[in-house]
Amino acid sequence: MIDRATALGDEPLRVVVLYGGQSAEHDVSRVTAAHVLAAIDRSRYVVEAIAIDRDGIWRATPDLHAGSGPVEALPVTGPHIDLSEALAPPGVSQRTVALPLLHGPMGEDGTVQGLLEMAGVPYVGAGVLGSALAMDKAAAKEALGAAGVPQARWATIHEPGWVGDPAEIDGILARLGQTLFVKPANMGSSVGISRVTGGEGLRAAITEAFLYDEWAVVEEAIDGREIELGVLGNVELDFSVPGEIIPGAEFYDYDDKYHDGAAKLIIPAELSRNEIAEMERIAVAACTALRVEGMGRVDFLYEERGRGFLLNEINTIPGFTPISMYPKMWEATGLSYRRLIDSLIDLALERFARRSAKRQTPARH
Ligand SMILES: Nc1ncnc2c1ncn2[C@@H]1O[C@H](COP(=O)(O)OP(=O)(O)O)[C@@H](O)[C@H]1O
Ligand SMILES: [Mg+2]
Repeated sequence: MIDRATALGDEPLRVVVLYGGQSAEHDVSRVTAAHVLAAIDRSRYVVEAIAIDRDGIWRATPDLHAGSGPVEALPVTGPHIDLSEALAPPGVSQRTVALPLLHGPMGEDGTVQGLLEMAGVPYVGAGVLGSALAMDKAAAKEALGAAGVPQARWATIHEPGWVGDPAEIDGILARLGQTLFVKPANMGSSVGISRVTGGEGLRAAITEAFLYDEWAVVEEAIDGREIELGVLGNVELDFSVPGEIIPGAEFYDYDDKYHDGAAKLIIPAELSRNEIAEMERIAVAACTALRVEGMGRVDFLYEERGRGFLLNEINTIPGFTPISMYPKMWEATGLSYRRLIDSLIDLALERFARRSAKRQTPARH
């Protein structure tokens, strides 16, 4: 873990929590933000929150302090604010770190990260490329494949080139098998994802996926365990103990994640030392290939009596309520929710300093 001193200047650091957002995970993000505001160490930071409403309007959040009643979801109803002033207000010389607690498109995918880069504000989590690559399931598979990271066999399809005639459908079935997962490339929370068997189902699932994105991936269905690992770090990664998801439905779908909560989380997952070492090895290769920094929840499908650990995806802004897998895995590893937030902020500053040291113009010889 990195040196605490990097986070401690003379003035307390200003932390701006960004939450809400325009994705399907808007409400989840508001719950997360309420928890983060309640838990964050106010002896160390001056904390502000900015809501992004469903229309993408940035709004000031009234000052909400720790211990001010039960934690629910933060409101997104404050006055409209100017983006650049909110991130770097005139007259405020304080160092600022942004903490984007936004999941899915327009939050986890490099868009907000790009704004923060342009505003010159350090921020928690992966950078622009890492966020975008990890978010796009088609681009991620290609980058992971090139790096030799084991994963399920897949096909990428692009709507403009997709005919969907019997030859195309049969070609996919012949290559990937009869039972398949179809996913829009850029979504999250299982939105637009189907598990199908046979040609008719495949065709319908692709049509469904194209409602959300013009790129989609089709994957062979893996019969295996769902294991997740938390990573924390920039250059050197720390690993949490692994966790296992036992989905309540046929797969870990949107309802299971957010409505009935029927899925069970087992932390730590029952795995041997060698199995854990293998996951960590793959996680390092995957985080490097996808340029993930800061934090990531690395999700595997574990084909125990077959190919072993197959990388499913990396989430660069994983679920972050205290009952979410990522914070729970760290808690079980000995890092509390409050200290996890500290570590993330330290990492944001460390990366910002390291990158700022690079020249923007050619060196003179
Ligand atoms: N190839 C696959 N084989 C078996 N199960 C899968 C496969 N791909 C996805 N799943 C199931 O679907 C869920 C959602 O898929 P995932 O790729 O993680 O999308 P999201 O980004 O929406 O979380 C997974 O948690 C898992 O339960
Ligand atoms: Mg997932």
